[in-house]
Amino acid sequence: MCLVFSWLLTLSVVFSMAEKQICTYYTTVRVTSADCSGRMLEDLPTELLTDIQALSMSHNRMRVLHSDSFRRYTHLKYLYLDDNMISYVENGTFEPLQNLEVIRLSHNALETVPVGVLQLPKLRKLYVDNNRLKGGGGFEFAPTSETLELLSLANCHLENLPPLGMYPRLLELNISGNELKVLFPQQIAPMCRLHLLDLRGNPMLFNGSGGCECHSLATWIQQMNIYYAEVPLNCSTEADEWADGQFPCKQQPQDEMQTPCRAASVIEEKKTNIWLTWILPSALVVACLYIVLLLVGTRFHSLISTKCGMEH
Ligand SMILES: *[C@@H]1O[C@H](CO)[C@@H](O)[C@H](O)[C@H]1NC(C)=O
Ligand SMILES: *[C@@H]1O[C@H](CO)[C@@H](O)[C@H](O)[C@H]1NC(C)=O
Ligand SMILES: *[C@@H]1O[C@H](CO)[C@@H](O)[C@H](O)[C@H]1NC(C)=O
Repeated sequence: MCLVFSWLLTLSVVFSMAEKQICTYYTTVRVTSADCSGRMLEDLPTELLTDIQALSMSHNRMRVLHSDSFRRYTHLKYLYLDDNMISYVENGTFEPLQNLEVIRLSHNALETVPVGVLQLPKLRKLYVDNNRLKGGGGFEFAPTSETLELLSLANCHLENLPPLGMYPRLLELNISGNELKVLFPQQIAPMCRLHLLDLRGNPMLFNGSGGCECHSLATWIQQMNIYYAEVPLNCSTEADEWADGQFPCKQQPQDEMQTPCRAASVIEEKKTNIWLTWILPSALVVACLYIVLLLVGTRFHSLISTKCGMEH
């Protein structure tokens, strides 16, 4: 009887350990990660360590993200949810993730960028590639992120670029592998720091037509010094003759479109400058004063106490 009981006890301990070990943990460069990838999971395991900073749930079978899915993992900086079947994300799901910097939602069944992702205050990289985005892709109602540096919308069946607006820090935009027909400089001009634009694999883009639009985009890309891996623009040849110097198409005043973005960048830089030129030195001065006062105070105190000691 006792033997059976102890045997059952051992079994249950082994099982609960197995439950906890669904995911593996590792730490590199002070980042604690949980790797739960490729385990046919339909939901997030419930008992992960709460202080993890990176979580991989890639290659699983999640369909829905619930508003309490990430409630316990507020330290997360990196979240990989690629290659699941996510098609629905409840409102508020990402709200607890105020420290999130990188999120991969690639290879899912999303029609829009989930509500709240673009609001995350520290978000730097957002991968939504290989989803079938519809309409505005969720960008039309979202605020523009002031921190985003990379956005991938590759292979999303896009016929039009979603209304992105101003992203003052965006350096890299990947819209390769879509079905874009046109792209106007004014659609990307509000991102004044754009450095890389991947337009490859858009076979319909200015397919030999739209001389003016095509050339004005090409010119703009050149002027802005934007690196793009391959020259994909097939501007019509008529316009080629205009290309050197004589350009009959009306150029958009792009400088104007970039003013708000540039202003935001300047404010950003000023903030850091203020921090460096005023706040840091002031803090140092205050700290020094405090130490000096402390020393003087101690001296004074010991002086009094020795004096008192003498009197006694
Ligand atoms: C979720 O949020 C979006 C945008 O804020 C809103 O349009 C939608 O009605 C909300 N859905 C629910 C179920 O609250
Ligand atoms: C853009 O995305 C595609 C698909 O994910 C990828 O293969 C390509 O390397 C990306 N481009 C750049 C410049 O990173
Ligand atoms: C460019 O467009 C023209 C006219 O539609 C077409 O004949 C040509 O094959 C295209 N070139 C490339 C490289 O796609």
